[in-house]
Amino acid sequence: MKISLKAELLKARKGGYAIPAFNFDNLEMMKGIIEAAEETKSPVILMVTESAAKYMGLDYVFSFAITAVQKATVPVILHWDHGFDINLIKKAIDAGFSSVMLDSSLKNFNQNVAETIEVVKYAHANGVEVESEIGHIGGKEDDRSSNANGFTDINEAIEFNKLTGVDALAIAAGTSHGLFKSPPKLQLDLIKEIVEKIETPIVLHGSSGVPLEDLKEAINLGITKINIGTDLKIAAANGIKLWFLENPDGFDARKYGRSSIDYVKAEAIKKIIAFKSNNKG
Ligand code: 13P
Repeated sequence: MKISLKAELLKARKGGYAIPAFNFDNLEMMKGIIEAAEETKSPVILMVTESAAKYMGLDYVFSFAITAVQKATVPVILHWDHGFDINLIKKAIDAGFSSVMLDSSLKNFNQNVAETIEVVKYAHANGVEVESEIGHIGGKEDDRSSNANGFTDINEAIEFNKLTGVDALAIAAGTSHGLFKSPPKLQLDLIKEIVEKIETPIVLHGSSGVPLEDLKEAINLGITKINIGTDLKIAAANGIKLWFLENPDGFDARKYGRSSIDYVKAEAIKKIIAFKSNNKG
């Protein structure tokens, strides 16, 4: 059974926690995320971006991610992250994803609204929920980079939410994707105002590298979905690098792979505990 992103996020809002939304790029990262969620009894949002799915092969990723959702002992929401291509978004919907994100945030307001409505119509007709982005969160997301980094305009966000009927809304509030060049400054006043004025669950992207204390404040203000990609990529790579430092002549993919899983798992558990989603699954 598909788990409702919106219902889980509204539950999190009531319970004063956020659900971590983790990106995976390979099987090891996916296993680390699921093991972390199971060990801490946390709900989790398992996310794959368009380019990560292309790297793994769409059919492969659809089948192993859906197997992971079915086998997990905690609620796992399978989410298509940063979809730019509406045809691929529709494929993810058809394949059984719980929710999809359309990112038309660099297009003008009317185009963003029109494309979001197209996705919402198709998704809702298939029992799938939709996240879309208003304002633009810059930085390096997957294979794309952008320097555009303005904050979300509150009136635009209210209008966008009303016109599109999205189930979750991503905002630009001081974070950016990828590694930060300077320490991020979360716009807590903006987050507070948006959460107060918009009932739809609000999503914070680009949250790797943001001090956990800042993320905790954002959760206290009502943020319920926090996206983490880069911190897990770093952990996955460190697990392999450190294994080879200790085993310079090693070659067994199952051994350095296991190390990668363990590092991802440890990093994911840190976030789960900070977001207080442990024991909520
Ligand atoms: P980071 O890689 O900066 O954590 O951002 C991930 C993200 O927002 C995915 O949607």
